[in-house]
Amino acid sequence: TEALKIALAGLGTVGGGVVRLLDTNADLIARRAGRPIEIVAVSARDRAKDRGVDLSRFRWIDDMGEMAALDGVDVVVELIGGSDGPALTLARRTIAAGKALVTANKAMIAHHGLELASAAEAGNVAFKYEAAVAGGIPVIKGLREGAAANRIQQVYGILNGTCNYILSTMEAEGRDFADVLAEAQALGYAEADPGFDIDGVDAAHKLSILASLAFGTRIDFPGVGTTGIRHVLAADIAEAAALGFRIRLLGHAEMRADGLFQRIHPHLVPVSHPLAHVTGSLNAVVAEGNFVGRLLFQGRGAGDGPTASAVVADLIDIARGEYGPAFAMPVAALGEQPPADPGAR
Ligand code: NDP
Ligand code: HSE
Repeated sequence: TEALKIALAGLGTVGGGVVRLLDTNADLIARRAGRPIEIVAVSARDRAKDRGVDLSRFRWIDDMGEMAALDGVDVVVELIGGSDGPALTLARRTIAAGKALVTANKAMIAHHGLELASAAEAGNVAFKYEAAVAGGIPVIKGLREGAAANRIQQVYGILNGTCNYILSTMEAEGRDFADVLAEAQALGYAEADPGFDIDGVDAAHKLSILASLAFGTRIDFPGVGTTGIRHVLAADIAEAAALGFRIRLLGHAEMRADGLFQRIHPHLVPVSHPLAHVTGSLNAVVAEGNFVGRLLFQGRGAGDGPTASAVVADLIDIARGEYGPAFAMPVAALGEQPPADPGAR
């Protein structure tokens, strides 16, 4: 059988992880996908950098226009990052060239996801982004597929691994904010600009995507009220602990009678609550559906292995021919406002 041929743009934490995963589990992946998945071309800024993986077998491409339209390539995987710039150029051109797009780029989806999904629908190509929210946790598939039959009342949880690592490490080890942030960056959890993590913007990107999937509405990133953890002090954490609470950065989206509520905010979580026990780079997402009840998704929300796992899961779907609309339904059918729900509070 013919291999699914991949062009991979971005060879950092996530891109490097994808190369390693496709190498390490090649046989298993080929059996499950029904055919081999092979990288044929790669791109990054610096050709000379040692990335700990053998890249000599791949074509090196510098130009994003060329990357998007390579002969014989079925899927372009965008792992560069940034809401605009080369990532967006590559994404738009890939879909325009009639090729499938896989990305982990929640910033780009929060800003341009509806445009990209419309173009993908018009061209009947796959557009998938499991890795964009909560790293290795299959929460996009969970909401888009697993809970698809439910009216979802609310979705909430811990959506940023860097902030959770900082808060839980400060709490456990009494360490300094800046010191723990530097460690999260070294572990590959943080965004290129860690301000996106600690100011809650990355979590807001993710919440806007989850809310769209949960409620079948258009992505509304500007509608997310956002407060980060930049000003949380070791003394705040100690005081919360003395009162029986832990501080966690939570995202919360809820369908209310007067519209969609979306908020990122540091919360005091009682130690008896499951979210208080989500530590390190773990993320957790809770969704409440009217037939399934309460779902809890938990796992590693950042880092090379978990994120690569989600990217390659999307590639396996594409190899199997399993894809549909990128969001809850075709873009034209997504609601501007939440649909009327007599049960909403
Ligand atoms: P990195 O900064 O580690 O890697 C980015 C890669 O993109 C690098 O290889 C870089 O090249 C390359 N790059 C940058 N600019 C260009 C350009 N103009 N043309 C070609 N290549 C370019 O980022 P991550 O791997 O951490 O993140 C990638 C994406 O995945 C982002 O969208 C991020 O938000 C998302 N993500 C990250 C997670 C994580 O845990 N790290 C988890 C979930 C999603 P070079 O190496 O030469 O500098
Ligand atoms: N910077 C992000 C985080 C990466 O810390 O959660 C995963 O999306």
